[in-house]
Amino acid sequence: MREHPAAQLRERGTGPVATAVAHPNIALIKYWGKRDEHLVLPRTDSLSMTLDILPTTTRVHRDPEAAHDTVTLNGRPAEGEALRRVIAFLDLVRDRSGLPHGSVVASENTVATGAGLASSASGFAALAVAAAASYGLALDATALSRLARRGSGSACRSVFGGFAVWHAGPDSGTGAEADLHSYAEPVPVGDLDPALVVAVVDAGPKAVSSRAAMRRTVHTSPLYEPWAVSSRGDLTEMRAALLAGDIETVGDIAERNALGMHATMLAARPAVRYLAPATLTVLDRVLGLRRDGTPAYATMDAGPNVKVLCRRTDADRVAEAVRDAVPGCTTRVAVPGPGARLVDGAGR
Ligand code: DP6
Repeated sequence: MREHPAAQLRERGTGPVATAVAHPNIALIKYWGKRDEHLVLPRTDSLSMTLDILPTTTRVHRDPEAAHDTVTLNGRPAEGEALRRVIAFLDLVRDRSGLPHGSVVASENTVATGAGLASSASGFAALAVAAAASYGLALDATALSRLARRGSGSACRSVFGGFAVWHAGPDSGTGAEADLHSYAEPVPVGDLDPALVVAVVDAGPKAVSSRAAMRRTVHTSPLYEPWAVSSRGDLTEMRAALLAGDIETVGDIAERNALGMHATMLAARPAVRYLAPATLTVLDRVLGLRRDGTPAYATMDAGPNVKVLCRRTDADRVAEAVRDAVPGCTTRVAVPGPGARLVDGAGR
């Protein structure tokens, strides 16, 4: 591969090998719809909680001799769309660093890929942190968030731990200027001790990718614009409820925002339906818990699995209730987790 003239100058001494860990995040105010597909600029702001479970660990080994990239996901060669997205992401990093080198990328997910369990969020957040270090880019957290966004929108939130808001950026803006204004940052939270019970009713890959589904929704669903408008109000109310440590209001807003997002998909042409019969059974159970006085609220992403927001002290009981409702359902309890970071192996 031809050496870029700036290559030597840009080497910042971090070394060609870097390993990063990132955790998935679950949106309480959803990101659904882009206004710029290439730059991954969203239509609306979104807000999420980063989990302390199901991390992705990604190692990037930049090789000055390599003419192309080699990518493995959970030990198997990546192919198709997954491979194309990783290479496109590394192209961005090569552009910015001036280092044209290929890389060997090895990524290990502890969560089922493509099952609506936010594997692309942890995946691209870890890749952004590891690739930036490997190619000698000195980026602060905001710049890392903007970079991760280019791989997968939701990944920009996993750069941060706890709760994070992703700013869509100015309404009308596209292009390089808008790119600068669309990143995540931490959200202040009051006295809240939340847990998310991740209820897996089906770990299989989704039939329609979230990327394709959100495109179809924006272009064909008559419910999309009304949801986008109401989501803006939801976000304002959510920030206030988080600050007040009001789990009931936080949960209520999260549940209505998610159901609204799924309504936009159901109205798309043709319809996108991720919710399965088992999903609705879990929703009924969550409603039952609330009727019995336990604050528990559901949110669903691009798949049939449900995440139930509740108090940490109620989480085991909520998990048990959900498992009881659906035969074969498995649960994991998550609490707010850390942001993406380099781990041992970085810089060697
Ligand atoms: C339903 O971030 O996976 O989980 O930007 O096209 O890669 P791309 O989409 P992605 O979409 C996530 C959608 C969601 C809601 C959310 O996480 O906010």
